[in-house]
Order: sequence, then C-alpha cells, then structure tokens
Amino acid sequence: MATSWRRSSGSSEPSSITTRWSPAGVTSRTRSNFSLSDLQRMYSNNGSHPAPDGDKQFRDASRQVFQIIEEERMRIARDMHDGPAQSMANLVLQAEILERLLDRNPKQLVTELAEFKNSVRNALEETRQLIFDLRPMTLDDLGLIPTLRKFIKEYGDRYGLSTRFNVVGQERRLPGNMEGVLFRITQEALTNVHKHARAKMAEVTMNLQPTRVTVVVKDDGQGFDVARTEANLHKNKNLGLLSMRERAELEKGALEIRSQPGRGTEVKVEIPLGKR
Ligand SMILES: Nc1ncnc2c1ncn2[C@@H]1O[C@H](COP(=O)(O)OP(=O)(O)OP(=O)(O)O)[C@@H](O)[C@H]1O
Ligand SMILES: [Mg+2]
Repeated sequence: MATSWRRSSGSSEPSSITTRWSPAGVTSRTRSNFSLSDLQRMYSNNGSHPAPDGDKQFRDASRQVFQIIEEERMRIARDMHDGPAQSMANLVLQAEILERLLDRNPKQLVTELAEFKNSVRNALEETRQLIFDLRPMTLDDLGLIPTLRKFIKEYGDRYGLSTRFNVVGQERRLPGNMEGVLFRITQEALTNVHKHARAKMAEVTMNLQPTRVTVVVKDDGQGFDVARTEANLHKNKNLGLLSMRERAELEKGALEIRSQPGRGTEVKVEIPLGKR
C-alpha cells in the first residue's frame, strides 16, 4: 500500500477534510459548523465589528465557544475530582487510622506512617501532573525545549516506551504563542502514540531554522490509514488530528501526517518564522 500523506494549509494539495472550528486547547466533544476562517473573515470586515448579516452567525459562534469553555471546565473539574480530591479524601482516612494506632500499636504506627508519606507523595505528584497537563509552567519560564525534554522523558517512563528527543539548529525561544502551539501538537501526537500505536519507540525531532521551525513526532507502531481515518473524523468524534491542524493553521503553518498500516506514523508540523 502506498504511503499516504495528508496536508493542511500551506499546501497545494487540498486537505481531505474541511477543518471546522475546534478551539485550540479544547478537548471537548462539541463541534460547531462554524470554521475559524469564517470567524476571522467576520472580524476582518472593516475593523473589529462583524458584518450585520453575520450577526446571527457571530452570536451562534460565541454561544458555541462558551459551551466549549464550559465543557472544558467540566473536564477539569472531573479530573480534579477523580484525581487529587479522591487521593486527599483517602489521606484523611489514613490519618484517622494512624491516630487510632498511636495508643493501640505504636510499633505498627511507624510502618503505617511510611505508607502514609508515600500516599502523600503520590497525591502531590498527581496534582503536579494535572497542573503540567493544563499548562506547564516551565513553558513560560524556561521555554519549549526544556519543557519538551522533561515531558518526553516522563512520557517514556510513564508508558514504558523508549523515547528520543533531538534538537537541530540553534536553540532559542520562539515568538508569541508558537511555543504553546508546538507543545500542544507534540503532546497530542504523543498521546496518540500511546493510545493507538502499540509502539516500542517514539522520537521527537525539532528543527529550528532561521525562517521556519519544524517538529516531527515519529513512532514505530502499527500505523493507520490516514485518508480513511480523516474521512471519518466527524462521525467518530475524533478531535486530536483536527485540533493539531487548527493549531498549526493559527500560526500560519501546516501539519502533515504520514502513516502506513504496519509501518509506524510520522506527524510533522512546520511553522514559518520571521514576518508575521
Ligand atoms: N500514532 C498513531 N498510530 C496509530 N493510529 C493513530 C495514531 N494517531 C492517530 N491514529 C488513529 O487516528 C485516529 C484519530 O486520531 P485523533 O487524535 O483525531 O482521535 P482520538 O485519539 O481517537 O481521540 P481524541 O479526540 O481524544 O484525540 C485514532 O482514533 C487512531 O485510530
Ligand atoms: Mg488523539
């Protein structure tokens, strides 16, 4: 079977899917019929006000944006509830048992205390992970490269995959929200690797050139039929590939996916630098 490449913007090849509005950073299942470019066109119509005939569309789009924000909040609330809140409730129970042991069995208390300390450490780690997934603080403080280095190392440890991170070109900070965009695309591509690829190895290569930056995420997993998958994204409610494309387009870049059943997958994002 021939290797299939699919491109989004910045390509002469038409994309096989119509990319619809799915805001960056949002993992919600809601999808509107309103594209990002529709929204941009309305805004660019003589300044910042939408055209009169666009009023209804604009209101609909706003409503959908609010709905998506609400769903994202629900997801975060659920993660907090199932993760740190649950762990802390368990810690309180454990502390009560320790309290009782103080009189009854001080010897056992020492052993149980070690266990308790372990649980506290785990709860702390869980909370840190949640914060990191929401928005890694190192992204703003130290930049994309140290953040990716940490993320990829932890990702490999967590999922038992061998990982490599290569940086080509001159290491430097990138402008605007470009670092955030590249981080989210890499994060989603790697999430897909552990969710779908059954890979042994994942490799991320970042290439910083004077006029463009590219990131390639490659795995040696089972691969997939890109054209067939993209044709069914809406039906199957898959948001990952769509959101990666949307993010790349927001930075005037392009996303390409190369995969072949049985031969692994390569996701490549390229973003132009310079005049923006
Ligand atoms: N690295 C990969 N290896 C194998 N299959 C992949 C890989 N990346 C994506 N896929 C396939 O493409 C499909 C679409 O991916 P996409 O990220 O859009 O959705 P998803 O991961 O299923 O759900 P989500 O909306 O949570 O991201 C996946 O369901 C999977 O079948
Ligand atoms: Mg996905």
